Amino acid sequence: MSAIDQVQVDVHLGDADLAAALRSDVGNGLLLPQKELPPKWLYDERGSDLFDQITRLEEYYPTEAEREILLRHATTIIERADADTIVELGAGTSDKTRALLDAGRDHGSLRRFVPFDVSEEFLRVTATTFAEKYPGLEVHGVVGDFDRHLGQIPDGGRRMIVLLGGTIGNYPTVARKEFLRQMVAGMIPGDRLLLGTDLVKDPARLVLAYDDPQGVTAAFNKNVLQVINRELGGHFDLDQFDHVATWDPIEEWMDLGLRSRIDQQVSVDDLDLMVDFERGEYLRTEVSAKFRLASLADELASVGLHVEQWMTDSAGDYAVSLSVGR
Ligand code: SAH
Ligand code: AVI
Repeated sequence: MSAIDQVQVDVHLGDADLAAALRSDVGNGLLLPQKELPPKWLYDERGSDLFDQITRLEEYYPTEAEREILLRHATTIIERADADTIVELGAGTSDKTRALLDAGRDHGSLRRFVPFDVSEEFLRVTATTFAEKYPGLEVHGVVGDFDRHLGQIPDGGRRMIVLLGGTIGNYPTVARKEFLRQMVAGMIPGDRLLLGTDLVKDPARLVLAYDDPQGVTAAFNKNVLQVINRELGGHFDLDQFDHVATWDPIEEWMDLGLRSRIDQQVSVDDLDLMVDFERGEYLRTEVSAKFRLASLADELASVGLHVEQWMTDSAGDYAVSLSVGR
């Protein structure tokens, strides 16, 4: 089987679909009393590339903490899950997932890899790269949105669903439970969930991780305004907004957004929209929840998942859990 024959990519989010969803999210979000945009729009090609740069920053510890855990425990995870399919939600470059695929190849059970992501360009590169690196592994990419297309994940066999990087934390509490519920609804007995979660820690470290001195996270955050300018005829001046990252001790999440430097009106031509920003007004672009092991176990139990294995990095910054349905 050649690498090309190994790869299939299903696109459930075509250009027209993406454009309609963006119009709706921007039209609604910018008119809310507390302005807000869903974080999925951060990840066009440039945004995905900026996120990849974030993962290499010294201040952004989650990537290396998770890599340490996966390298140390890949074999036991693979043996316990005994899956023939790894489905990776929010795959991005799937860089850390190599540890699991290597262990799966050695174990002999793994035959299929299903990277799922909203960002088509990155997903196609990941799918092709992995087909070349793992001869004989079927790579079935899915371009879709977690909130609409979980039902389109190919089934058959025993699956391990993998959600890394702390991406689950980008859902606020209520939406997170609904997302988990939808995911569990698609699992059959024996399927596993491998979940990466960042842990509550010293707020000063968290703020540095989300407001790095090099300004990469600021550029990533502001990129959403560029997406609106390009796709919807927006007229945002990126220099008139500041990147803001604050720790919310009540919600236990990092709150990321853009603060208007001045009183301003911004038009978004394709939506016939004129948006007023007061000086200091905040547009939330993302939350990034941090977890505690006990409450996370309760949260997983509330959707019918039982944690079989907890794994943390040596510094205790980050946790990966392997769960099975009850
Ligand atoms: N798993 C990788 C990447 C995390 S970045 C890692 O651990 O480093 C989050 C990824 O989720 C991005 O690739 C982004 O494109 C994707 N994503 C974000 N929101 C999404 C959504 N609603 N549906 C599908 N993919 C989404
Ligand atoms: C993808 N997600 C888990 C990242 C996070 O840490 O919440 C996104 C991110 N935003 C700013 N830096 C990284």
